[in-house]
Amino acid sequence: MTRPISEVASTGRFLPDRVLTNEDWTRMVDTTEQWIVERTGIHERRVASSCTSVCDMGVAAAEQALERAGVGAGDVDLLLVSTATPDRLLPSTACDIQARLGANKAAAMDISAACTGYLYILALAEGYIASGMGEVVLVVSTEKMTSIMDWEDRSTAVLFGDGAGASVIRRATGDRGILANDIRSDGKLADLLQRPGGGALRPFDDSVLADRSHLLLMEGREVFKNAVRAMSRSSRLAIRQAGWTADEVDLLIPHQANIRIIEATARYARVPMEKVYVNVHRYGNISSATVPVALDEALEQGRIGPGSNVLLVAFGAGLTWGATALRV
Ligand code: UT7
Repeated sequence: MTRPISEVASTGRFLPDRVLTNEDWTRMVDTTEQWIVERTGIHERRVASSCTSVCDMGVAAAEQALERAGVGAGDVDLLLVSTATPDRLLPSTACDIQARLGANKAAAMDISAACTGYLYILALAEGYIASGMGEVVLVVSTEKMTSIMDWEDRSTAVLFGDGAGASVIRRATGDRGILANDIRSDGKLADLLQRPGGGALRPFDDSVLADRSHLLLMEGREVFKNAVRAMSRSSRLAIRQAGWTADEVDLLIPHQANIRIIEATARYARVPMEKVYVNVHRYGNISSATVPVALDEALEQGRIGPGSNVLLVAFGAGLTWGATALRV
């Protein structure tokens, strides 16, 4: 049996209270409840208020994870934040979260890997602990997707929501922990999902505002095909690296972007839908926060517990993707 180096000691989550339903969307853009449900599986999503920051949501999820692990903020060696929606462009949201938590001894940084962000920061946490640089890593995935989507574009706006998930990663002491990590990217496909305006290449000005290029642009169908292909491949690889068979996966927790992507990924990974965690109908796509929020819910609901084999798999802009085999 593979001996893990690090373990997910605890999890936490934060979802804003405000619910935006499909019916609400039918009043804002040319869409129907039937189209959204049939094409995506989404029924509603959460929306953070204008005074709730990405930092606020991350801090709430992180505080819950720290308390559950019995770890003080001052014990954190490294704070890694994944977000596609930083509160400001400089400095990192991780530094703002560090200050709010009082994680004074930690190095803090943001990682940009879009919806795959949680799997990326898990892999980095694992490497950091393996190298001996530190023992406690706080990973936080926090996203305010409603702040970067185009509320007038029906093909993207109905898909997204806001929220945050967090985990404390510690050195493993037994056979529970991360057994395999497969993280990948293909920058040749970067234009499929992007925010082209407002960065250093095309600094924010009136023309960016006029053509709305500071907002999310996606070629949905292409992203869909690549998502299924990449997540299936990564799932099979992580299962094999962990020394499992598909039958030994107790729960598959995929990125929650679209129920059709989830079903196809599960089919190719040979995991039946009864063993797949789904909450896309309640929250839509919260980018990198989908996986840690789902992991936290699955633990809370008792769908998994100590010793369960859990496969995390995600996909996003970059393109980036990956899978993590975890014994919780
Ligand atoms: O998390 C990061 C990764 N992101 C994803 O994984 C998203 C991947 N992509 C998808 O989930 C799907 O491609 C979408 C849900 C975005 C779109 O579903 P689709 O089945 O691929 O639809 P489509 O883009 O091929 O559009 C089909 C039709 C089009 O109309 P025409 O050209 O056939 O007349 C669209 O204009 O559906 C139309 N459409 C809508 N109709 C009603 C697009 N959005 C809507 C809408 N309501 N909200």
